Amino acid sequence: MAEERVDKLLSSTGHWSRKEVKELIKRGCVKANGVTVHKPEEKYSVEHTVFLVHGQVVDCQPYVYLMLHKPAGVLSATEDRDQETVLDLLPEYLRRRKLFPVGRLDKDTEGLLLITDDGPLGHALLSPKKHVDKVYYAQVDGVITQEDVQTLAQGMTLGDGFVCLPAKLEPIEDGRACLVTLQEGKYHQVKRMLAACGKPVVYLKRLSMGTLELDRQLKKGAWRPLTIHELEGLKGKL
Ligand code: URA
Repeated sequence: MAEERVDKLLSSTGHWSRKEVKELIKRGCVKANGVTVHKPEEKYSVEHTVFLVHGQVVDCQPYVYLMLHKPAGVLSATEDRDQETVLDLLPEYLRRRKLFPVGRLDKDTEGLLLITDDGPLGHALLSPKKHVDKVYYAQVDGVITQEDVQTLAQGMTLGDGFVCLPAKLEPIEDGRACLVTLQEGKYHQVKRMLAACGKPVVYLKRLSMGTLELDRQLKKGAWRPLTIHELEGLKGKL
């Protein structure tokens, strides 16, 4: 990877403005591979440099990858004038980056949401051509039948004429709930598919996207960075 100016690298983390980084450098608070940085225009490679500010390691990787356990009641959007968005659940320094949720979950849907500023990865994960499975847990009003399983497996047509890719439906909890696996993500898709079978969804949660599974330890509204293993798993599938 090419070398970049140290002030640009450190300010891109969202922790400080470019001006603040310059001030930190002036005061001798920034080290690169153990050596004090004297000028903001000094260039470094992110891959080969460990930066310390006030003795604390600063991660300057170009992209951020976060797993959020989306709670109900929050919009999957980057901003909204009136309502809370998933980005409002993140700390200030992350909100300064150009992060976006990969795929939208409805306001009342819970579960796994990947948040990143890696545009190419986000688009690839959402492309039906890449066949990335998204698994949802749904509770329904009614009982899922084998006929419903067949209907989804055949690739059903929704009310607006949209023809769905074949999807997997697995009834659980005596058919009162199910796991739905999709490789696409149209507006309200799971709800519309199950409603078309006469089984309206009463609760919906996304459990996984490709190899990435919602961390069971992550409470609703909480987030954490992806592990290297999780990130490599996601990238390896594309
Ligand atoms: N399908 C839906 O109907 N809603 C979601 O939030 C996600 C998939």
